[in-house]
Amino acid sequence: MPEEVLHWLDLKVGGTYVDGTAGAGGHSCLIAHKVGPQGRVIGLDRDAAMLELARRTAADQGMTLDLHRSSYADAGTVLERLGIDAVDGFLVDLGLSSDQLAWTDRGFSFQSDGPLDMRFDVSGDRPTAAEIVNEWTETELADIFWKYGEERHSRRLARAIVERRRTAPFDKTGDFAQVIRRAMPGPRGRIDPCTRVFQGLRIAVNDELGELERLLERVHEWVRPGGRFVVISFHSLEDRMVKHFLRDSIAWEVLTRKVVTATEAEQEGNPRSRSAKLRAARRRSEAEEIRERNL
Ligand SMILES: C[S@@+](CC[C@H](N)C(=O)[O-])C[C@H]1O[C@@H](n2cnc3c(N)ncnc32)[C@H](O)[C@@H]1O
Repeated sequence: MPEEVLHWLDLKVGGTYVDGTAGAGGHSCLIAHKVGPQGRVIGLDRDAAMLELARRTAADQGMTLDLHRSSYADAGTVLERLGIDAVDGFLVDLGLSSDQLAWTDRGFSFQSDGPLDMRFDVSGDRPTAAEIVNEWTETELADIFWKYGEERHSRRLARAIVERRRTAPFDKTGDFAQVIRRAMPGPRGRIDPCTRVFQGLRIAVNDELGELERLLERVHEWVRPGGRFVVISFHSLEDRMVKHFLRDSIAWEVLTRKVVTATEAEQEGNPRSRSAKLRAARRRSEAEEIRERNL
């Protein structure tokens, strides 16, 4: 949603912006063009391989981005290191990039056979997907598939996984995908059941909702009064968290009264954008916060 991102960030020439999920650098480069050489774009990503892609995207356009391997939830540490008190806008475009999905060796896709990994940060301390499916209890697995994957056969699936791992632990996506498909009852629908299960597992591996919660609690400290916070989410749980948080926070004035979705033209060209939801907010000043508190 490039146009929408640029609009809601209300970019200023010479401004400083954080792209908390730099990914392949698409949004970061668009922002960098708008803020010009006097401005600054700080791009964060948990995945070092994505930062390398972002660096190349920028280099191809004759630009350099200020890129750091960090969770967006730890942006405060990066900003402190850079000597930046507050920024004019903070963007996060949550989830997985199509590049990561295509990298077989990262284990995000059920359409190719790779290691059951799914970590955004392969050097971090999060468990791999294999560790979760081989070691977590049946109830914990069912909860992941139900809550994060919205899979209604979550219990049946967790049982099948636990039964199978007794004889042979999982280590490959292909093998795991086959067990999922076999465990599903009835005729196959339009959507491969692996879609929901892989999504649930990825969210658990990376503690994606926990990271989002940490961000929501802190982001007001890093954005100057009048500055913007823009979130694009793909999962209803994430969107709900953002919506409720912004509505209840005195630090933020919600600008998107109705959630913003991709235009029809974008949805046609990019099927992933069909589930994208954008919300934007403006950082209130201290005086506005006091007024809000007294309302
Ligand atoms: C949808 S992609 C972003 C695409 C990007 N907007 C672009 O224009 O190319 C999401 C990115 O967020 C990264 N990511 C996921 N969780 C993160 C976190 N907690 N902190 C920083 N980056 C994260 C992923 O590694 C991935 O590269």
